[in-house]
Amino acid sequence: MNVVEAIYARRAVRAYQPRMVDEPTLRLLLAAAVQAPSAMNQQPWLFSVVQDTAQLKRYSDRAKEMLLSVTVADAKGAHYRGLLETPSFNIFYDAATLVVISVSARGPYSDADCWLAAENLMLAACDSGLGSCCIGFAVPVLNEPEVKAELGLGPSAVAIAPIILGYPATATANIARGAPNIVAWMHAK
Ligand SMILES: Cc1cc2nc3c(=O)[nH]c(=O)nc-3n(C[C@H](O)[C@H](O)[C@H](O)COP(=O)(O)O)c2cc1C
Repeated sequence: MNVVEAIYARRAVRAYQPRMVDEPTLRLLLAAAVQAPSAMNQQPWLFSVVQDTAQLKRYSDRAKEMLLSVTVADAKGAHYRGLLETPSFNIFYDAATLVVISVSARGPYSDADCWLAAENLMLAACDSGLGSCCIGFAVPVLNEPEVKAELGLGPSAVAIAPIILGYPATATANIARGAPNIVAWMHAK
């Protein structure tokens, strides 16, 4: 798969086989992640890998509580509230691996750096036959002090990009994109 094929093939996967991603494969993906560009070449990313499904279930349950405590009034909010209120809903879709990309202290570009590393990770995962999905729902729980400590993060660290990984249980539908919304394109007069 070349890089453009991977870009088009990657989709958010939300159903996984129980099969665990092995350590050599994960290390290859992390090595690809750190090839991402970063502001001033700071390479600020820290990686925490969770491959304990009981721990992930605990984080999911706490995340649901936290997210439900925030009132969301719009239609999308109502949709998500319904999901979060469903006892069997696991915000990690029962994936057996979570990679959390964090920084030791937030700077002006740390979110960009982490998400660029996350995209590299997801494209490399796709090339290895793995599915992935960003889990924004997990960000609040991963930044709770006791969870940060479990993830090897100090008090000033910030968990930014949570990515689940695993072997897809089913084929994933393509989500069509709109055409690029080009609002300016200037040539010399
Ligand atoms: C920052 C970010 C946070 C996301 N959080 C979630 C999430 O919490 N749960 C989820 O199922 N998908 C999440 N997604 C995945 C998007 O829903 C998905 O990328 C989008 O619907 C487009 O689908 P595709 O990735 O298959 O093309 C997130 C994506 C991004 C970029």
